[in-house]
Amino acid sequence: HPLPPQMEENLGLRRSDCRAKGGAPGFKVAILGAAGGIGQPLSLLMKMNPLVSVLHLYDVVNTPGVTADVSHMDTGAVVRGFLGQKQLEDALTGMDLVIIPAGVPRKPGMTRDDLFKINAGIVRTLCEGIAKCCPSAIVNLISNPVNSTVAIAAEVFKKAGTYDPKKLLGVTTLDVARANTFVAEVLGVDPRTVNVPVVGGHAGVTILPLLSQVTPPCSFTPEEIAYLTDRIQNGGTEVVEAKAGAGSATLSMAYAAAKFADACLRGLRGDAGIIECSFVASQVTELPYFACKVRLGRAGAEEIFPLGPVNEFERAGLEKAKKELVESIQKGASFIKG
Ligand code: NAI
Repeated sequence: HPLPPQMEENLGLRRSDCRAKGGAPGFKVAILGAAGGIGQPLSLLMKMNPLVSVLHLYDVVNTPGVTADVSHMDTGAVVRGFLGQKQLEDALTGMDLVIIPAGVPRKPGMTRDDLFKINAGIVRTLCEGIAKCCPSAIVNLISNPVNSTVAIAAEVFKKAGTYDPKKLLGVTTLDVARANTFVAEVLGVDPRTVNVPVVGGHAGVTILPLLSQVTPPCSFTPEEIAYLTDRIQNGGTEVVEAKAGAGSATLSMAYAAAKFADACLRGLRGDAGIIECSFVASQVTELPYFACKVRLGRAGAEEIFPLGPVNEFERAGLEKAKKELVESIQKGASFIKG
């Protein structure tokens, strides 16, 4: 719904006013797939983020309703809705951060790779828009299979001549959130005090929790390691089965996406020491992309940390993960390169 001209002007004033007062810099954030199961709660959470001054909600259905609803929250961000492909460019122009939860989710019995057929094309179209309208934005890619869609996005950006590997981030934060939760349960501690690095990728055996590197330092029995590794790798499937056909994780995913987006925005603001796991272009292994700890800054993933010491169990897991990852990455890249 276009605003009357006077109101548009007021919103513009409100934004510049915010900056002029020397408050926190406001960032412009777009959510693509904003009307979906993840998109709706993520829109709510980003509207609550004080670092966001403008929030663009884009989807191919239902954005007017979601936008009207979220826009009534009395937080700072100005919210605008965009509906359908014709409005994609307007949704993207000028954005600092673009979050992509667009695409179909899993049903029981499906792997993330089963989503490739539909989601690959969606991610390509959206990334072509980003290359054209906000080529220097940071991109948080949630759409599955992340192990392939990051390669798709990278190839689209390379083709357009806009690729900056530091700015393309596959979102694996939910794997870390699950790992922290399950490990905290086993240890009998508050999950907020636990940090589990999760590396590799975002599907089954490619999700590799480094339980030997948990902070604060702790140790597990072999049974606990087997239980935790399996539960972390299959946490998504646990939700898919419990939802029994109604989709995959949406609420915990929106939480994880909002947490990761907030870390990206704090990095953009110039905060020091922002470290998160993400699936990014890397030289940590021989694979072109790999999830590991990264330091987020003004330029995106400014530093990528090596794996650190891994034990024998983790080394075996790493080999398994790499085998599957190499194929998923290849599949994504050839979708664009042909
Ligand atoms: P959903 O079906 O509820 O929502 C997807 C939304 O995308 C819908 O509103 C749909 O209209 C929209 N959409 C479809 N085509 C589009 C296009 N061309 N442009 C813009 N929007 C478009 O699905 P849900 O549950 O929100 O999941 C979204 C994606 O996130 C799935 O691919 C799912 O597998 C993935 N996911 C990723 C996780 C991760 O950890 N990275 C965790 C959970 C889900």
